[in-house]
Amino acid sequence: MEIGASKPDSDTWPIQVNLGVRSYPIYVAPGILSSVGRLVRESLPHANKCVIVTSPPINELYGEALMKSLIGAGIDAKPVMAPDGEDAKTWDFAGNILGDFLDHGIDRGSFIVALGGGAIGDLAGFVSSIYLRGVNHVQVPTTLLAQVDSSIGGKTAVNHRRGKNLIGTFHQPSLVVSDTNMMKTLPPEELRSGLGEVVKYGVISDLGLFKRLEEKGETILEADPNVLTYFVRKCAAIKAKFVEEDEKDTKDIRAALNYGHTVGHALEILAKFKLRHGEAVAFGMNVAAKLSQRLGFMESMDLERQRGLLEQFGLGVETPPIDVKSLLEAMYKDKKSKEGSIRFVIPTGLGCRPTIRKVSDHLISQTLEEEIGEKA
Ligand code: GLY
Repeated sequence: MEIGASKPDSDTWPIQVNLGVRSYPIYVAPGILSSVGRLVRESLPHANKCVIVTSPPINELYGEALMKSLIGAGIDAKPVMAPDGEDAKTWDFAGNILGDFLDHGIDRGSFIVALGGGAIGDLAGFVSSIYLRGVNHVQVPTTLLAQVDSSIGGKTAVNHRRGKNLIGTFHQPSLVVSDTNMMKTLPPEELRSGLGEVVKYGVISDLGLFKRLEEKGETILEADPNVLTYFVRKCAAIKAKFVEEDEKDTKDIRAALNYGHTVGHALEILAKFKLRHGEAVAFGMNVAAKLSQRLGFMESMDLERQRGLLEQFGLGVETPPIDVKSLLEAMYKDKKSKEGSIRFVIPTGLGCRPTIRKVSDHLISQTLEEEIGEKA
């Protein structure tokens, strides 16, 4: 099936990720947190014990409701706290968590719940993939970024001192439950950051989604759960298709999801993660679109539409003071650089499948200089 061609069935039916025995549903709805216990029972009928990996601020907001739902479904649940953000994704911390699983008597019939943003999801997915050679896990993403991207597709990781996400596995969750009411408590800058990824899906796969974002514009920042449910469902359905076509990211299909990430990721590293992911990716998308225009793929009008949409969400407006040479070096260190050259996801238009191309250092430097120059 054409990527992005399938539409979510309705607002209540789950989106299915079809991967044979590793298939799973994604539920997206306002208030669905209270149904997690029942949904786990449907997906994992024999599981009756779990550990919830979360962080103190997230636990404060949603821990009680999640525990209530799980216990109400006859599931014994224990929370385990991780630090907030990327600090959670360390080898040492993963070791501590594995010890907690042993302390709590987690066995192969038990499961792990990731309650949090992308970092908690990556960590919990990683430890569940190696504990007792792999136990089931359930993703309950609490940020827009995690709901539209990182909770889906089974990529798990911790960081290494030499780079982000260098240690990890593919381990599909058994279930993803995205409660869009959670967006009401999300800091506005986190919401903006997630919207960068939503724009990404519009550009790489769905012109209708892109246009809907343009129509809604800044009103999306009001975080109306019904509006966000539409966007999260759309993005989840698109991501599901990419994952179904290229689960292990070996065919240059899933790689399209990294649109804007080659530069974005390097920028995040240079900014020591002080810059939000969505902001860094927005800058990266503008650079990749400009490269695309220079390579003769993208019309300048489409590039400007992308830039304009991102700017409506406050993204790609400013760039921290960076040096092109260091940025290029950081890109080379990124694990996605193959055979000594940098590979870019190059958009071919709005709503069109991108192409993956090696781009010369000279062209990258020139384009970066231009993009930075325009923002200076
Ligand atoms: N976030 C990119 C991927 O899941 O492949």
